[in-house]
Amino acid sequence: MSTKTSSSRRAFLAATVASAAHVWVPRPVKGYTAEELLAPVTPMATGISKWDLDTPALCVDLDKLEQNIARMQRSLAANKLASRPHAKTHKCAAIAKLQMAAGAIGICAAKLSEAEALAAQGLDRICMTTSNLPVGKIRRAMQLRKRTPQFIQAVDYEPNAHDLNAAAKEAGIVADVVIDVAVGTRSGIPAGDDALSLAKLVDKLPNLKLRGLLSYDGGAQHITGFAARKESALKNIAGNARTYEAMKRAGLSTEIFSGGGTGTYNIQHLVPGFTDVQVGSYLFMDMQYLAIGGEDGNPVYSDFASSLTVVATIVNNRFPGRLTTDAGAKAFTLNVPRPGVIGEPGMDYNPGSDEFGTITFTEASKAYKMGDRLEMIVPHCDPVVNEYDYLYGIRKDRVEVVWPITARGHSQ
Ligand SMILES: Cc1ncc(COP(=O)(O)O)c(C=O)c1O
Repeated sequence: MSTKTSSSRRAFLAATVASAAHVWVPRPVKGYTAEELLAPVTPMATGISKWDLDTPALCVDLDKLEQNIARMQRSLAANKLASRPHAKTHKCAAIAKLQMAAGAIGICAAKLSEAEALAAQGLDRICMTTSNLPVGKIRRAMQLRKRTPQFIQAVDYEPNAHDLNAAAKEAGIVADVVIDVAVGTRSGIPAGDDALSLAKLVDKLPNLKLRGLLSYDGGAQHITGFAARKESALKNIAGNARTYEAMKRAGLSTEIFSGGGTGTYNIQHLVPGFTDVQVGSYLFMDMQYLAIGGEDGNPVYSDFASSLTVVATIVNNRFPGRLTTDAGAKAFTLNVPRPGVIGEPGMDYNPGSDEFGTITFTEASKAYKMGDRLEMIVPHCDPVVNEYDYLYGIRKDRVEVVWPITARGHSQ
């Protein structure tokens, strides 16, 4: 991607690019080639200070990101587990490649269009942790499996397994499948006999190959306090562990027994047979995760560093005890928990209005001027990332790299 876009060309492209995508573009137009006109507008050059970015700007601290990846990899390996990071968190091919380079055995995807976008960027070991229900989607998934032979599809419903088998046959493949066994009630087939009989069915269907089971416990991840989190995670997964044993006894494949996340990464190894953890938020560490507390008893969960921030500009300072920024609900998605204003513990940041953030404070470290910048830790990372086209990789306050958020908005 070109990072040398001049501001006048950027403005011209910004004004034309949306319509240009749908029309025939004569070349050259005002000195620009058709490629230049149709290319995405590069937001800013690398090398500049993060404080000079157009705002709201989504930034990731590269030192912290790299440390988080290395630390997770080390910790899981010490507990004899692999990482299969969940790409729903970052939706970014460049970050998935960093995770793979650090030793992940694959990545996960939550949505088919997300998996397709990441596969198109060369990520070939994708486990789709959500089942695809409509037949059209199943066919698409099997086409993706045809292009990407290491693709693994979750299934949690017998008719869906039959549809998957038919779509795999139509595509001329034998598709790898894992049984999504519920922990809690959100998704997945109930543990026990139901799950075992689905595993037997998948094992029998000629165009499917059973690889094992998934068991993600969304409810346990954010339980406050390590002891309570551990107790709940182990209690909740007990039925799944029995299902795993029953599958093994029945001679079915249990090569994959995957689940867990950032809140339970250091608990999952206590489940016999568990193979890998689908960690996501550890990369970024949002306000939700900071609040759950660590194994060391610290009320702040500090195993990983908060690397993901939004930089915003102050657009109103004229009312005492209040500031307004240009980053509201469309920049943060949630207003509970509040974004954390870095360096300003006395500020309460409410991103409740669509385009504006409202800060109230009784104490601030300085008198803020119009145009000054503030940097916030995000409330919950996954939906925030989905709001931005680009993620600025920052090292020592400078933009080192601009990463497109590959599967941004790919929610089908
Ligand atoms: C199936 C599944 N696995 C893993 C994760 C990642 O969890 P975390 O961000 O808590 O690490 C999620 C997140 O929602 C998920 O839905």
